[in-house]
Amino acid sequence: MKMISFAEFGGPDVLRLVDAEEPHAGPGQVRVAVRAAGVNPVDWRIREGQFRTVRPIELPSGVGQDAAGVVDEVGEGVEGVEVGDHVFGEGSSTYAEFAVLSAWARMPEGLTFEEAAGYPSVMETALRVIREVGVRPGETLLVSGASGGVGSAVLQVARDRGITVIGTAGAANQDYLRDLGALATTYGEGWVERVRRLGRVDAALDLAGSGVLRELVELTGDPRKVVSIADFGEPGLGVRFSGAAGSMPEALAEAVALISRGKLHIPVEKAYPLAEAAAAHADSRAGHTRGRRVLIV
Ligand SMILES: NC(=O)c1ccc[n+]([C@@H]2O[C@H](COP(=O)([O-])OP(=O)(O)OC[C@H]3O[C@@H](n4cnc5c(N)ncnc54)[C@H](OP(=O)(O)O)[C@@H]3O)[C@@H](O)[C@H]2O)c1
Repeated sequence: MKMISFAEFGGPDVLRLVDAEEPHAGPGQVRVAVRAAGVNPVDWRIREGQFRTVRPIELPSGVGQDAAGVVDEVGEGVEGVEVGDHVFGEGSSTYAEFAVLSAWARMPEGLTFEEAAGYPSVMETALRVIREVGVRPGETLLVSGASGGVGSAVLQVARDRGITVIGTAGAANQDYLRDLGALATTYGEGWVERVRRLGRVDAALDLAGSGVLRELVELTGDPRKVVSIADFGEPGLGVRFSGAAGSMPEALAEAVALISRGKLHIPVEKAYPLAEAAAAHADSRAGHTRGRRVLIV
């Protein structure tokens, strides 16, 4: 089968379309004929070697953790899914014609493979950070970096739970945030004052890692009400970094429920052919993705 692989850490040009052995579903897994794979920032962070000391990987390595496709093998002990089912979920080396998934759900009616591939990781992260920051219905959550994949999911889950959101994004994404029910303002010079004018802030999420943790603590008045997924912060600041993944099956179930009720939609910023994974990585790394980028297999 064809898959994207890299044999050394480095820039997007280390990615190669190669011929590889097909993987097979082990116990508790399914294999899918991949139709689309989600491109997450973690994919290019791994490719660059950012995690090589904490999470060593063997090279050459495949790329990608999110996928949508058609089940073509069901592993031992797996129930409730059959060959031919359309599923989306999380696995490994998903930038490929076939991939093994360890968590999956049936795709809701009306969702395309291309769209479905964008949900798993952003939904898991969104549910986790909303839980960890402890924001309740009726309160106001500030989201720094609200227009990306994780931000798009956070805004819609929060709206569904009766949480008011103030989001920051670039000038081009102000209407996008408002369409998702948030109060919107731009980041950059003077942003703290603009946020203050929009209202009180009970809790805050840093999704962009743009060096704003001190300001988020100032706005909430309590470091325990600030969570970041992209900035470890200065020692002593007291802000929690969220890195340990929560339950993917729960995240997928909630995604299905919200999509089916018309309450969640993560737009596809751009779809690329599998062979153009390097371009997708370069574009994702540029840091202005609205929703998710995906590869079409
Ligand atoms: N720790 C974890 O468990 C975990 C999990 C998932 C993701 N992450 C990390 O979290 C980050 C976000 O992930 P993602 O998938 O949502 O990324 P993404 O889809 O690439 O979104 C990035 C967003 O950042 C915004 N942005 C750029 N510069 C900004 C600034 N100075 N201030 C505020 N926002 C700014 C962009 O908004 P505009 O386009 O409007 O400029 C863009 O929408 C990535 O660094 C990723 O590696 C961590």
